[in-house]
Amino acid sequence: MLGDRDGSMAQLLITGGAGFLGSHTCLVLLEAGHQLLVLDDFSNSSAISLERVAELAGVPLQRDQPTLKATPEAFTLVEGDIRDTQCLDALFASAKAFGQPIDAVIHFAGLKAVGESVQQPLRYWDVNVVGTQRLLTAMNFHHCRTIVFSSSATLYGYPHPNQIPIPETAPIQPINPYGASKHAAEALLADLAGCSGKPEPIQASSGGWRIARLRYFNPVGAHPSGRIGEDPNGIPNNLFPFITQVAVGRRPELTVFGDDWPTPDGTGVRDYIHVMDLAEGHREALHSLLNSDPQLLTLNLGSGQGASVLGVVKAMEATSQRAIPHRIAPRRPGDAAITVANPTLAAQQLHWRTQRSLTDICRDGWAWQQDNPNGYGEACL
Ligand code: NAD
Ligand code: UD1
Repeated sequence: MLGDRDGSMAQLLITGGAGFLGSHTCLVLLEAGHQLLVLDDFSNSSAISLERVAELAGVPLQRDQPTLKATPEAFTLVEGDIRDTQCLDALFASAKAFGQPIDAVIHFAGLKAVGESVQQPLRYWDVNVVGTQRLLTAMNFHHCRTIVFSSSATLYGYPHPNQIPIPETAPIQPINPYGASKHAAEALLADLAGCSGKPEPIQASSGGWRIARLRYFNPVGAHPSGRIGEDPNGIPNNLFPFITQVAVGRRPELTVFGDDWPTPDGTGVRDYIHVMDLAEGHREALHSLLNSDPQLLTLNLGSGQGASVLGVVKAMEATSQRAIPHRIAPRRPGDAAITVANPTLAAQQLHWRTQRSLTDICRDGWAWQQDNPNGYGEACL
């Protein structure tokens, strides 16, 4: 039955579902038996990712418009912007009119490039904060009060060495407009839950809201089929896609930002989490919310393990059997030496922990890169 509190089969709205994290999570949620409505404006993605998710899940992808013309089937795609209130209202109202009201939202849609956020702070606040506010307004109006929100470890800024691995209670200190926009959206969610200013990561909430704020560390890798993966626009800012593009010969060398950090080999240390582990974390967070009293959860999603830049280079060299040329350059402004999650609370609360290693990450990320050297760009379905 749709809308069961136990979440055995729910009608879900996935904003930004065509993106890197959204597409992998869609697959996991379809496999768990849920019905999905994806809303995406394709500002940073392509519908090909969802065609491939449909193929992997063995369901057809139905395309519709915000005023749904047909009963939503297992997997329905609607093109639209989370800031468009008419679009949101039409979607919630028409799903209900077809007897399939939206039970919960997983909200991935947003902008995520730190450097771009410094250049375009108004755009980042518009999409990440105003967009989230409009989505929440529509949810509230249509009595849908369960949401899983994409937050980020970027909120921890430059974590103090005493706080590695980082607990959810570490100070929140965003250091760029991207982080500030995620912080603002988190604060709005806390206000809605009646938990303003309270730092505890697990709290009872008011007004019927069930909310999970998931702070991702460094999501990387791809589905093991090599059919879906990360497809960054232009030159990647992040380490992992840059390394795979060097390995495949699309870029000549990696620039290592600093070898004088206070870390074992002098290069920056991060907590890389396989995107499939992250997707499964969303499934567990959703099920936990649907099975609990109204609450506000704030959880780190990370592995608890750190890997250095040179450690990732070596792991990818071993996987790809190719040398990855790299040169040392000065530190990148805005970088921290080490960010590693304390994932204990997610393990306790969700009975979830990461299952996949750095070797798995490299194997799957490399398969995706080799099979799709230009991402979805020149892909045939
Ligand atoms: P992504 O860019 O691949 O996916 C975001 C999706 O949202 C894209 O499909 C894009 O087209 C869509 N979108 C953007 N603006 C929209 C709008 N106004 N209306 C509708 N759709 C819109 O990014 P991702 O890596 O999948 O990240 C998903 C979420 O997780 C983002 O909110 C991001 O800030 C957050 N996050 C990502 C990382 C990471 O390293 N990937 C880390 C921490 C947090
Ligand atoms: C970056 C963002 C962070 C965001 C995260 C999403 C910055 C300052 N931080 O985090 O807000 O949440 O992406 O995944 O942009 N590195 C190189 N060479 C490269 C690229 C990266 O040496 O070409 C190093 C970095 O210095 C860092 C490590 O690799 O030590 C990881 O970098 P990256 O993948 O960009 O992730 P974060 O810096 O953790």
